[in-house]
Amino acid sequence: MKIGIFDSGIGGLSVLHRAYKMLPEAQFIYYADEKHVPYGEKTPEEIREFIGGIFDFMIKRDTDAIVIACNTATSAVTREYRDSFPVPIIGMEPAVKKAIDLYGEEDRRILVAATPITIKGDKLHRLVERVDKHGMVDLIELPKLVRLAESGVFESEEADGYLKEALCGKELSAYGTVVLGCTHFNYFKRSFVRLFGEGIRFTDGNEGTINQVKRMLPKDVGTGGEPGTEFYYSGEPINAAQMRFINRCMAQLDAVYEIN
Ligand code: DGL
Repeated sequence: MKIGIFDSGIGGLSVLHRAYKMLPEAQFIYYADEKHVPYGEKTPEEIREFIGGIFDFMIKRDTDAIVIACNTATSAVTREYRDSFPVPIIGMEPAVKKAIDLYGEEDRRILVAATPITIKGDKLHRLVERVDKHGMVDLIELPKLVRLAESGVFESEEADGYLKEALCGKELSAYGTVVLGCTHFNYFKRSFVRLFGEGIRFTDGNEGTINQVKRMLPKDVGTGGEPGTEFYYSGEPINAAQMRFINRCMAQLDAVYEIN
């Protein structure tokens, strides 16, 4: 089985990282749209144009399913559009429902952090309206975390300082859970912990997305082929320096994997 995973950049590697654990026999194509990152600061129209080309790229390479490992891109496309392609296309949304199901009964608030497009999008507002019955959810845009991740600045005073400033109007002790509503934010779990304290918990959509892939894969897909991943930056095979960067990203994801 061949699974295509794409994101605007390296955020979706957190989904690939999870997929290695949950689908160890699969072949993957990982596509980082590095020419156009960050998506979160583009318009939905621009994003739709980028991803149409990426779907075609994935379908030409015989993928059995495509994962939009990007909350921002998912929020910019409709379900009808996704259904018009010949393979299942699985999107992501901030794991707000998971946070409410797990921790909604507590009296600590839930902070959903994502890109400006996701935070402003109707999809997220409809989701929050549907599941947040007791008004426990707050939203925040953190676009700079995407740029820091893309420059490989994961754990740093800059990231800590940015978070502190972005959240300075909030009463931090009121929060029990942070929803990582952008796949790039997984790299910064330790910065969030430093700011909110050891008790803070996280939810993300990674596990739910791979479970959804498992459910939606056509039944007749065999394991076939050697497990492994081909990496592309905006359609071009990556070079050695880019591969080293991806390995560094995967090492950071290993390091923060147990923090929940
Ligand atoms: N990683 C993406 C997400 O999950 C978006 C980052 C960006 O390009 O702004 O929303």
